[in-house]
Amino acid sequence: MTRRLVIAVDGPAAAGKGTLARRLAQALDLPYLDTGLLYRATGRRMIDAGHDPAQGQAEAFAASVGLEDLSRTDLRVPEVDRAASLVAAQPAVRRVLVDVQRRFAGEHGAVLDGRDIGTVIFPDAPVKLFITASPRTRATRRWEQLATDPGAPDREDQITRVEREIEARDRADSSRAVAPLRAAGDAVRIETDGLSADEVLAEALRIVARMTR
Ligand code: CDP
Repeated sequence: MTRRLVIAVDGPAAAGKGTLARRLAQALDLPYLDTGLLYRATGRRMIDAGHDPAQGQAEAFAASVGLEDLSRTDLRVPEVDRAASLVAAQPAVRRVLVDVQRRFAGEHGAVLDGRDIGTVIFPDAPVKLFITASPRTRATRRWEQLATDPGAPDREDQITRVEREIEARDRADSSRAVAPLRAAGDAVRIETDGLSADEVLAEALRIVARMTR
């Protein structure tokens, strides 16, 4: 495999970007960065310090985030979903986090997943994937990841609530002025409704092989 290969994996909330990107990195022996965790860790630090993630000073919190923050176990909770999306809309925060992401991939290449990897962070990446699925499928997958009671009698209502939350976050991420969520013109889309994680990985590996020939 070519050294320093950069693979951009973008897409809306809970589309399976993380699962794919982690497995792709393993298969290709590349480092992996879940860039959403940088925004989540920034939001988490603001909440913990009693600051409003929608207000200023987020930049200073972003600057204090290190790779060690990314293994925190309290980043995937609903209040941090919202806080991440709020800090991610602030241009100063994104400016700080651009460098962290570029440095990460600088020496050995990497697989990175996020919203703007193919459009802003690595616009020259040789492989760009855009991962999508219907809102219902995405909500069901996220609910299954987080559910404390998989047999809950109000399962469908709970999934509907998750669906509303991820649709609201997609709207915010797609409509913000800076680095909005969108597919790069040269990204290859993978629609993952009805596909297993293995099938998505196999399709992604075929695309990588084709684009790096
Ligand atoms: O895992 P999920 O798809 O729910 O979200 P995530 O990838 O962890 O990202 C959390 C939030 O961070 C998103 O809703 C975006 O607002 C923001 N984000 C971003 O703006 N740019 C990125 N490259 C990654 C995440």
